[in-house]
Amino acid sequence: MMMGTTEIVRHAIFGAAPAHSFAGFFANTPQLDVHSKAHGKYRRRSSSFVSRCSVSRMSNNCFRDYRVRNINDRSRSFKCQCQRVDDADGMTSGDANRTWFTESVSQANQILGDLNGQKVISFENGSVMPNNEASNHSSYKTRGNSIEDEAWRLLQDSVVYYCGSPVGTIAAKDPSDSSSNCLNYDQVFIRDFIPSGMAFLLKGEYDIVRNFILHTLQLQSWEKTMDCHSPGQGLMPASFKVRTVPLDGDDSATEEVLDPDFGEAAIGRVAPVDSGLWWIILLRAYGKCSGDLSVQERIDVQTGIKMILKLCLADGFDMFPTLLVTDGSCMIDRRMGIHGHPLEIQALFYSALLSAREMLAPEDGSADLIRALNNRLIALSFHTQEYYWVDKRKLNEIYRYKQEEYSYDAVNKFNIYPDQISPWLVEWMPDKGGYFIGNLQPAHMDFRFFSLGNLWSVVSSLATTHQSHAILDLIEAKWSDLVADMPFKICYPALEGQEWRIITGSDPKNTPWSYHNGGSWPTLLWQLAVACIKMNRPEIAAKAIDVAERRLAADKWPEYYDTKRARFIGKQAHLYQTWSIAGFLVAKLLIEKPDAARNIWNDEDAEIVNALNIMADSNPRRKRGRKVLKKTYIV
Ligand code: GLC
Repeated sequence: MMMGTTEIVRHAIFGAAPAHSFAGFFANTPQLDVHSKAHGKYRRRSSSFVSRCSVSRMSNNCFRDYRVRNINDRSRSFKCQCQRVDDADGMTSGDANRTWFTESVSQANQILGDLNGQKVISFENGSVMPNNEASNHSSYKTRGNSIEDEAWRLLQDSVVYYCGSPVGTIAAKDPSDSSSNCLNYDQVFIRDFIPSGMAFLLKGEYDIVRNFILHTLQLQSWEKTMDCHSPGQGLMPASFKVRTVPLDGDDSATEEVLDPDFGEAAIGRVAPVDSGLWWIILLRAYGKCSGDLSVQERIDVQTGIKMILKLCLADGFDMFPTLLVTDGSCMIDRRMGIHGHPLEIQALFYSALLSAREMLAPEDGSADLIRALNNRLIALSFHTQEYYWVDKRKLNEIYRYKQEEYSYDAVNKFNIYPDQISPWLVEWMPDKGGYFIGNLQPAHMDFRFFSLGNLWSVVSSLATTHQSHAILDLIEAKWSDLVADMPFKICYPALEGQEWRIITGSDPKNTPWSYHNGGSWPTLLWQLAVACIKMNRPEIAAKAIDVAERRLAADKWPEYYDTKRARFIGKQAHLYQTWSIAGFLVAKLLIEKPDAARNIWNDEDAEIVNALNIMADSNPRRKRGRKVLKKTYIV
């Protein structure tokens, strides 16, 4: 093993305990503590350390110039000691004590001969490029000048390589922007990669998604600290960067390292709760699109899923089945008053739970976990459908609420004061349609409409069929507020005046109708497309794509738009923002081939519906009007 002291052995962290066993999930039995450091080779991060891929000097310092190598500049030669990510051990229990990286340059040469299963082209100067990538590049060039072609070319240009393999896409790549302006937009964000990954999956380019899944899985295991505190081990990073650093003890050679940010460097030190949930969702989509189930069946991947679930399902002080998080823990990653139980996280959580259940290998050790997961799915779905839902009828009910009810069967369970219903909502709520509110806490309903949470509630079937249609009805009814000149408004309405001052802390980036505070984000097009196709109403998404198509390319693919009607490119919006490009492409592809959207959405689960009906039947105030299955669901 050449990696010396910096080697990271994911499998070794599971030590003698069977990595795939989760029997001790709730019992916390020491031998099943999968993160026991005694078994592990976790290292505290000092500067830049993580899974490494050495770029070795072969002879005569010929690799010195790698220090200034652009990771996307694939025209120079290099040798890399990392193995194909899918050759990693841990795939089978028999291999569980082997390490993840290969040993020698000669092996690396072999690997480069068959990079991710692709044949490679050798150039005279020794450089390599997978030949299908070379052909991709040329075919993109010859396809003409349409907006989609440009988008594909830009997406391909945004690809980040690690040890010669594509592992993700950079958040933004504006050729005219100087690097000092880019903040962390030169990183691969987990959430931003999801539309890129979906675009590649829909195009049949699976390698990059597989690599992304497996490399980010490696990052999940690192010990991370924020000052002296370590967050839970299942946490996935918000983003990572491929850095080229001098090789330890050899200043004439460099190596590439994957350097993750778990929020400890992020503005506001926000925790990326959504990353792990998106990771599970992408993993399922990868399996469904590619037909390759071997990735989700790997022991290390199964363990990764369980680690995320363990973190999400851990007991706390919560009274609600919704996930309790701090402000800024998702796409809205700065203070916007969404701490508590924001809808976006709940929709992703539900989707990840359903997806994980589909992928978890049945085994005795997982019984407790599966039971906890099933219970949570039912409780989460009941809670959201019952208490987050508003339409005109429900609003009127809240308007007439009594307060201070101390009893088990209170109608106004959360002690909501009707005065919380803002004047804008009384006017805004259409006769036909409804939506899930943004957040629910004791004595607090955040009535703002948050788009991603609502769209993903449709996609994940967290919303009932009736509610899903009502959400789309509302989108149609409120088109000029939610789409107007550019789809799709991130939330409606914006916080203004005193509310903006108190809730955002007078955030100059989140001024009214800008950025997260009522700005419009083209990336949301792809979630809109999946939701509309699922409900058999693709024309709504097609109309929104038409609106976007008129401006996106001409405006250089901005990250977001400002003003009430999205008339301006956002004040501080990055241009050539990858997830704007990918979101547009996924939406386009899905409208062309709507069947593919099945690989992304979660079907309504008959057993959950049945369980909810049984709960509804025992509650005289609530009749769900849904088909009751004969089979009884045992909770
Ligand atoms: C901003 C967005 C966040 C995104 C990141 C990179 O911080 O709020 O959602 O992941 O930019 O594009």
